[in-house]
Amino acid sequence: MIQRNDPCWCQSGKKWKKCHWPQEPLSTETLAQKYEKSYGILIKTEEQIRSIRRACRVAATILDFLCEMAEAGTTTNALDRYAVLLHQKAHAIAAPLGYGEPPFPKSICTSLNEEICHGIPDDRPLQEGDIVNIDVTSIVDGFYGDCSRMVTIGKISEEKQKVVDASYECLHRAIEVCRPGAGIAEIGRVIEDYASSHACSVVNQFVGHGVGISFHEPPQIPHHYNRIDIPMVPGMIFTIEPMINAGVRDAVIDPKNKWTARTKDMKPSAQWEHTILITETGHEVLTADVDENLFSQDFLSKLAASKSS
Ligand code: MF3
Ligand code: CO
Ligand code: CO
Repeated sequence: MIQRNDPCWCQSGKKWKKCHWPQEPLSTETLAQKYEKSYGILIKTEEQIRSIRRACRVAATILDFLCEMAEAGTTTNALDRYAVLLHQKAHAIAAPLGYGEPPFPKSICTSLNEEICHGIPDDRPLQEGDIVNIDVTSIVDGFYGDCSRMVTIGKISEEKQKVVDASYECLHRAIEVCRPGAGIAEIGRVIEDYASSHACSVVNQFVGHGVGISFHEPPQIPHHYNRIDIPMVPGMIFTIEPMINAGVRDAVIDPKNKWTARTKDMKPSAQWEHTILITETGHEVLTADVDENLFSQDFLSKLAASKSS
């Protein structure tokens, strides 16, 4: 029987223990430990995944209702108030309220036209020609789900339609590359390839992020070209949320509220966001589906009726 220090059977000349010595395959536990130690990435357990899936479904359901309510005449403050009531009814917490420094003042982000992200709801009614991103992050039983969509109000300019469509396409192309073994950098590659070939720019001052156990976890998920070669592994959960501009990529943060990011050239920007789970065979979009039974029709129609009052 061959011993550890014998020459390897493959005739490499190396000792067996340094050559074809059978390695224990890495168990999922040691892989999770390696990811936490090397990158700070928390690989989620089956139990955590079930809870995060739930939080994601709640966030997607609330976002779905808010998007239906967004039309000409609706203020973003009214959307914020619906978000508060919907979170209450779902026994969920809106993550943005009080988050960060200075504390974010509202329960959702609403980013209009040239606003890239982190827009703060206010009393300006939406009007024909606006595009608005509504971003919902919900906490359910301590777990987080994060998603956003664009809503267009009436007839919009070609330039605005271009960024709305390009950011949607970028998100979905990026989701398609997500599977075990793919590098994080693949995401930015497909997004910037698509955006730049459609005369759009990709914001690089804000990124997607790990999510689930807290609001913003490692890793960062850049939407622009990058060299982050961390391989995706089953149990990773992160957002993809490309911000695509009609003009320059540069963002300027509002000096007064310290949150709202606008395009430097004031040209339009658009963003769509999903929370993604890496599975054994590919990915699952955790914020894709709504829970039809979360809110009763009666509650939703009363909420919708409260609009006019
Ligand atoms: N939901 C945003 C994201 O996609 C973050 C908003 S931070 C807040 O990461 F404080 F503005 F809510
Ligand atoms: Co996010
Ligand atoms: Co978000």
